[in-house]
Amino acid sequence: MGISSVNRFCCALLACAATSCLGGKEEASPLPLIPKPLEASTGKASFRLTPKATIQLSDTSAAMKQLGQYLSQLLAPATGLTLPAGPITTDSAGRILLSVNETDTSLGGEGYILDINDYQVHILAQKPAGIFYGIQTLRQLLPAAIEASSVATHTDWIVPEVQIRDKPEYAFRGSMLDVARHFFGVAEVKRYIDLIAAYKMNILHLHLSDDQGWRIEIKSRPKLTEVGGSTQVGGGKGGFYTQDEYAEIVRHAADRFVTIIPEIDMPGHTNAAIVSYPWLNCRDTVHTLYTGIEVGFSTFCAKNDSTYAFIQDVVRELATLTPGPWIHIGGDESHVTLPADYIDFVNRVQPIVKQYGKKVIGWDEIANADLHPNTTVQFWADVPNTQLAVKKGAQVIMSPSKKAYLDMQYDSTTRLGLNWAGYIEVDDAYNWDPATLTEGVTRKDILGIEAPLWTETIQTMDDIEYMVFPRLPGIAEIGWADTKGRDWAEYKLRLAKHGSRFKAMGVDYYPSARVDWK
Ligand code: ACM
Repeated sequence: MGISSVNRFCCALLACAATSCLGGKEEASPLPLIPKPLEASTGKASFRLTPKATIQLSDTSAAMKQLGQYLSQLLAPATGLTLPAGPITTDSAGRILLSVNETDTSLGGEGYILDINDYQVHILAQKPAGIFYGIQTLRQLLPAAIEASSVATHTDWIVPEVQIRDKPEYAFRGSMLDVARHFFGVAEVKRYIDLIAAYKMNILHLHLSDDQGWRIEIKSRPKLTEVGGSTQVGGGKGGFYTQDEYAEIVRHAADRFVTIIPEIDMPGHTNAAIVSYPWLNCRDTVHTLYTGIEVGFSTFCAKNDSTYAFIQDVVRELATLTPGPWIHIGGDESHVTLPADYIDFVNRVQPIVKQYGKKVIGWDEIANADLHPNTTVQFWADVPNTQLAVKKGAQVIMSPSKKAYLDMQYDSTTRLGLNWAGYIEVDDAYNWDPATLTEGVTRKDILGIEAPLWTETIQTMDDIEYMVFPRLPGIAEIGWADTKGRDWAEYKLRLAKHGSRFKAMGVDYYPSARVDWK
């Protein structure tokens, strides 16, 4: 496997890039990968992507063809190359080989091996999802210019020799986007999916309804979107997804191994639904469209059967749009629901979700109800609720607002966001361990982690990016990497190198002074 002299020269340069060449001495510096892989070793050679490269697939199943095309499209804008993706051929030098081996179970459903030498790039996994994550790692080993949306000149597409064996710690690694307080269109949600998937997150929880807006078409209850979708915080025109548009989001997510979890928040946070169908409320309060940011003033009527007939319609339609296993029923901050009514309500809604083949997730308050065996509780604020959930045998998703809420300001000068849970700098968002954060909640109780972005103050994609980056990669690492290998001092060196990637991706990130951006 001869490598050209040009290539040898590049390898020498690259050896300096992978380490720091200080006065002839080499000082180890970490591979700039986020999340940090389980095991990685480097060599002195390198692989160069040339116009002759091909993407070769160990089998031509639909999933593998899709991955081949995905990789080709990922590399095309910056390189100007349209690499063909097809079956394995004898022309193997310089290829990127994607192969699945169903019999190797040691990597799990999402793990992969990435083996790069001067001859080829090989990504091996038990399942297609692992190939996808291997591609994300390869992407981060390429120069940052690979993220550019147009052809990047004067760039050698070189990656270092590495052997990586990697798999995630937690099965559930997500973010939440609140599309109710401010509405975000299909293209924006797709971009958000692309950004979280690049850091190996596999869940996007969409907060589809709140006091200020209802964002998903329900054909049997058309006023929800006609009326309830017509505005947003600040009085803008709001919006909603038709079911076709929503299906497009779900497909885009599935192609990136991201599961969409739809949330209909109830019995509180329901003003938009109540304005659409006033009988959903049985108190003497008059509801009008709401464009402020207070919480806790609305509730469905927990006593009326008509409320549950309504929920039945919503859940039935939502379940047909949801290939994933979960529907999120909210359940937070129902301050004007009587406690006994609240418990009855959660107890009656769980079987409806089950009837349509889905499992319930709810915010930590739902722990006060009788939890079904498959119900998962999302910790956001209340430790006793979460401990109660664990005592009742529930699995927990960790979204501690003091660490993982991406709408919290970085510091007192941040122009966006809120601070009711505190300021969260980039190191605060990184420095926590889900398995030791909360007494009585241990590794075995935890399904995974989720970083929510509430959008009371967030109006544009740039706003989203500014609050999410650079904190989200750190939270993605908490979900993926082995806790023992995590350390802020080392992580911040890797994160620093992602500044140029964010720039190439057009991501408007917060350049925290706690990181020495490269
Ligand atoms: C929440 O932040 N109200 C779940």
